[in-house]
This record gives sequence, C-alpha cells and structure tokens, in this order.
Amino acid sequence: MSFPSNFTWGAATSAYQIEGAPDADGKGPSVWDRFTRRPGKVWNGCTGDLACDHYHRYAEDVAIMADIGLQAYRFSLSWPRILPDGVGRVNEAGLGFYDRLVDELLAKKITPWATLFHWDYPWELYCRGGWLHPDSPKWFSEYTAVVVDRLSDRVRHWMTLNEPPCFVGLGLQSGDHAPGDKLGLPEVLRAAHHTLLAHGRSVQVIRARAKTPPLIGWAPTGDVPVPATESASDIEAARERAFAVTDTSMWNPVLWLDPVYKGRYPEDGLRLWGDAMPRHSEADLALISQPLDWFGYNLYNGYRVRRAEDGSVQRLERPLGAPLTHLYWNITPEVLYWGPKFWHERYGLPVVITENGCSGADWVHRDGQVPDPHRIDYTARYLEQFRRAAADGVAAAGYFHWSLLDNFEWSEGYRQRFGLVHVDYPTGKRTPKSSARWYAEVIRSNGERL
Ligand code: FCB
Repeated sequence: MSFPSNFTWGAATSAYQIEGAPDADGKGPSVWDRFTRRPGKVWNGCTGDLACDHYHRYAEDVAIMADIGLQAYRFSLSWPRILPDGVGRVNEAGLGFYDRLVDELLAKKITPWATLFHWDYPWELYCRGGWLHPDSPKWFSEYTAVVVDRLSDRVRHWMTLNEPPCFVGLGLQSGDHAPGDKLGLPEVLRAAHHTLLAHGRSVQVIRARAKTPPLIGWAPTGDVPVPATESASDIEAARERAFAVTDTSMWNPVLWLDPVYKGRYPEDGLRLWGDAMPRHSEADLALISQPLDWFGYNLYNGYRVRRAEDGSVQRLERPLGAPLTHLYWNITPEVLYWGPKFWHERYGLPVVITENGCSGADWVHRDGQVPDPHRIDYTARYLEQFRRAAADGVAAAGYFHWSLLDNFEWSEGYRQRFGLVHVDYPTGKRTPKSSARWYAEVIRSNGERL
C-alpha cells in the first residue's frame, strides 16, 4: 500500500530555529531575540544567535534536501528580517535572503512551502502592544503584502500562522515562550481573536496579490484524542472530545479550527469564556473564515479516551511505562489516523501534516555515522496510521517531517535533536542520520516501504 499519487513529501524548519544571523544585514530584533536573554527562560542560556547558521549555509542545506529527495520544503520567513520595525521600512537585504533561498530550492526542483509567521514576532510591534493591539491584524497583512509581492511569482504554497496555541498560550498566557507574558484570560482571548483576524486578512492579501494561483493553509496544533477501543461509543467519545472546549487554556484545537473553517466560535467555548471573550462581529467571523485550500496541522501527541458509564468522555491515564520521546512526549501513532479522519469529516479539506517527528539524544558515533532507529520507528508508526486514514477515504495530501535539521528547540535550547540531519553546532557540520536515508527510501516508494 502506498500514499495517493499526488502526495507531497517534505521536511520543515522555522526561521528563528535555524537561521542565526540575528542582526545581519539590517534585521530587527524579534521577541525571541530578547526572550533568550532573560535568565532562566531557555535551557542552559541557549540562544538562536548562531543556531544552524542557515542564513549563511542555506545552499548547503538545500543540497542536503535534494540528496534526501525532498519534494517540498516548509520554512518560515522572519518578519523582522524583512520589516525591522514590523511595519514601514522594508529591509531589501532581508527579503533578498528568501529570494535566494527560493531560487535555490526551485533550481533543485524542491517546492517551497512558506510560513509567514513562526513565532519570531517583531520586538518593535510587541512594544506597541503586540497581538493585543487592534491594529495587529493590519500589521500582519502589510507584512504579508511585502512578502507576497516579492515571492509569489515563484511560491504558490502559503501558510499564515504556525501554532497559535503556542505563541498565544505559551507566549502570552503561561509565559514559557517569548515574549514571556502571563496575561489574564480576557487579554489572552483578545490576542487570540486578533491572531485569527490576522490570519483572515493575510489570506485575503495572498489571494488578491499572488502572481501565481496560491494554495493557502495554516499550521495549527493540539493533542488529538484517540478512542481506547474501536467500539462505536468510544469512537464517538473521541470525536466529541476532539471538538470540545474543556478548559480556558489555548490548547483546545476547536477554538482555532471552527472559526477558521466554519466561521463560528464553539458554543461550549463561548459559554466557558463568558465575558472574558472580546466583543466580535459577524464581519469578524466572515473575515476569519476565508476559504482555504487544504487543512494543515502539526501533530505529535495524543491521549486515549473512552465513553464512561455515565455517558461522559473519560480521559485514560497513560499505561505505566508507555513509550516517550527524549522530550518526554507520548508516542501515540494512532493520532495520525483519528486526527485526519475527524478533521476530514468535519471540515472536508485535504489534510497535510505540516509537522510530525521526534526528539532524540542523537550523537555522532565513532564510525562517523548518526544512527537514530528510534526516529525511524517513530515515523514509520505514524505514517502507517496516516496511510490507513488515506485507505479509509481521507484525502491525505502531504507530510512534512519535523525537522530537516537539528535546531534551536525554543525553551529546550539545543538539548533536543529533532533533525533528519545532525548538526554539530560549534562547527556547523551536517551529518545526515540513518533516518535521512530511510526517509529518502520512503519518498522514493511514495510511502510503500516504511
Ligand atoms: C512545534 C513547533 C516547532 C518545533 C516542534 C518540535 O510545536 O512548531 O517549531 O518546536 O514543535
């Protein structure tokens, strides 16, 4: 069994995690440039100052992608590299970097999938209120216009925002990520609403200005419930939980999905949030729910649920000793079956997994190789489930492995290695791991040989 013939195989990265060069050629600071300076925020005081030095080594990295046989590459653009103040003056040199990257990709027949925002928010705009500011959707759409005008003759695949649960939830609510704020629910929900408006405006700008017909999505995330058994009642329980708002965190995926794909906030959410929810209009929801071309999702984790005797949805404990990655994330491959199935039923769009992968404690062995059988096993298990979803009628359209390279893993710094390719940070040396060779074969066989 293989994947659909038009399936896209890729790998993903993001600007702050790999580029380095935080003030090269006129780049402005981002909230991550500042946050990493705050004592105790990032493991071992790590910063993205050098990271993989991809800003200078991008050609080498594209050559590695070509060796693996990647059909597509998902990367993000650094907003303050392009607009140092977030709005206004355009930094030509910054834009030029992405110009060269895109040309290099196309020269190697790798399709660029561009993410406009992967968390490195312009510091200058943060100081003006960031996502709380009512103009923040407009700021994002102005930035979108600059990028689209420059790259859309060659880039067709666009993603607006990466993982709002993280940059709103971890960034503004729990304070674990940049900018590190701990706001109350009314402020957090207002920021969330603005990010959704920003997404909608950005989609409108891409559609209006793109020089080649665009294919637009975005990359939300969140854990997916899987049914404890395949009984009809457990499956129904999982489906119910997948689209429920159960607490006031930003981690209820439906809070992001229903506004975008259905033009409404979930009823149970509105009840729970009460007057913490900002006033919003039908016009807002119409703007937020611009038609998209595919359903993107970054998917790693899940949990088991069953239908309890009293009819409620019961979340089960993890079995003792169940497998974990090096980041202590659960290994739950079935999410790649149930997630796509539930989304496809509810939203009807082709599903692209915009991120999935696992952290390992990988090092270069004495023979110079980097064996990572855990990553191969992890990815094979997840892909088997996605393939099963495809066989059951889900339109499975693509898979992007997180990540191409080991890189700066946010508050975890460099102690988590997610790459298909090992990076020795002091020297910048890249060594493809055994998973890179394995993935090359997966791509060659269109997912038949896992
Ligand atoms: C996702 C992020 C990505 C990376 C992976 C491991 O939440 O989008 O940048 O950190 O997790």
